Amino acid sequence: MAIDGPAAAGKGTIARAVAAAFGFGYLDTGLLYRAVGREVLEGAEPLAAARALTVEDLARDGLRTSDVGAAASKVAAIPEVRVALLDFQRAFARRAGGAVLDGRDIGTVICPDAEAKLFVTASDEVRALRRWQELRDAGEEITAEEVLETLRERDARDSARAAAPLKPAGDAIVLDTTALSIEAAVAAAKAHIERALASR
Ligand code: CDP
Repeated sequence: MAIDGPAAAGKGTIARAVAAAFGFGYLDTGLLYRAVGREVLEGAEPLAAARALTVEDLARDGLRTSDVGAAASKVAAIPEVRVALLDFQRAFARRAGGAVLDGRDIGTVICPDAEAKLFVTASDEVRALRRWQELRDAGEEITAEEVLETLRERDARDSARAAAPLKPAGDAIVLDTTALSIEAAVAAAKAHIERALASR
């Protein structure tokens, strides 16, 4: 299952709920780019960091901050970094029992043959508010306006890059969560996946 979309649209929440409901493995591919971005903030060279990445690096603290998000989006525009992270993602996607991956290019590049594809989106303001609440709960001192600005910058960079830009796959269903509760968004995602599995 491929779940893509812009920052803080609700991909992770939906992907985790879908994985739990259907018994699939779940990979948040943003963590790969965040882990590389964090290494770069600490002085590493992006490609070397991507090639040396281990599963343990994905569990490190501090990957969810806004600074690491911005660094992730910069390293994610480097084609060689993306290539270095490809095999791990494809191997995860093929695991027995099924998998759900969320990111920016899952339905377009990583898993073009995914059995179900969702593109999750929401208005800029709603996404910024959700992310602001998360960051604040995690102890980051940042205003809602700053979050909105950094989120727009990141989406613009992710959409404009030549390598695997953020865009819905031609065969993805677009799910706009602006006015949806978490429960309603998860229910809509599950319904789409059930339809896709039934039509196999
Ligand atoms: O959680 P949030 O939606 O804010 O971002 P994320 O999924 O953790 O991704 C962080 C950054 O990694 C994004 O802004 C993208 O630049 C990059 N990314 C990517 O290029 N391709 C992916 N499949 C996943 C993330």
